[in-house]
Amino acid sequence: MADRTMRLEKYIATSGIASRRAVKKSILAGLVTVNGEPVLVPGHPINVETDAVEFEGKRVKPLMERIYLMLNKPAGYLTTRSDERGRPTVMNLVADLPESIYPVGRLDLETEGLLIFTNDGDFAYRLLHPSHEIAKTYLTWVKGVPDDSAVQRLRQGVTIPSGRTAPAKVERLKVSRDGASTQFEVVIHEGKKRQVRFMFKAVGHSVIRLKRVAVGTLRLGNLPQGQYRLLTPQEITTLMEL
Ligand code: URA
Repeated sequence: MADRTMRLEKYIATSGIASRRAVKKSILAGLVTVNGEPVLVPGHPINVETDAVEFEGKRVKPLMERIYLMLNKPAGYLTTRSDERGRPTVMNLVADLPESIYPVGRLDLETEGLLIFTNDGDFAYRLLHPSHEIAKTYLTWVKGVPDDSAVQRLRQGVTIPSGRTAPAKVERLKVSRDGASTQFEVVIHEGKKRQVRFMFKAVGHSVIRLKRVAVGTLRLGNLPQGQYRLLTPQEITTLMEL
């Protein structure tokens, strides 16, 4: 039979309510109750199916009800929960999961790659909050061969319709044999609208293809396009601690 117990501080931290360290402090301060009784031992075993845990007066969402996953989004799917015009949305690709899940952040219609879903509001909030400045890594293929000065400008920041972009990591990976396109890896910490596309446009090169390959330490790996997989407890905890 599967193990139904988990250490109290891990149980709370994986819900996204607070970091593991903050959770431990609150437990020691008597601010955590299990089935209505304060528990002062961080390693106290929780039955994840039956115990009711409150953290600083707030009910911790039961583990069984929390879902965290990543999808390898193909181009051509809108990142929205529903589309009044009936166009394909990312929800179509996770239709066999509970309806309570939603995408964390957004990829453009034509952008591919790593998109996280959850039904855990605290987790989504943490991941999206600009103060956390989580790194997002993209692979992109652009028209032509941007020269060194264009790459330098991209690294330092360029002006796009929504403002000036912060310094970014931009690496030229390879030029196609016919010189018609160049592949780059781009790491940004912001989420301005169509940011990568507008950045390259600002230096005179249009994006042909764009794929997100990592969010923080979470990597897309070889997940096939159009498929999803659940995040591991380790991946969830690491994202929460970013
Ligand atoms: N930058 C873009 O231009 N589009 C995306 O979907 C994500 C980042």
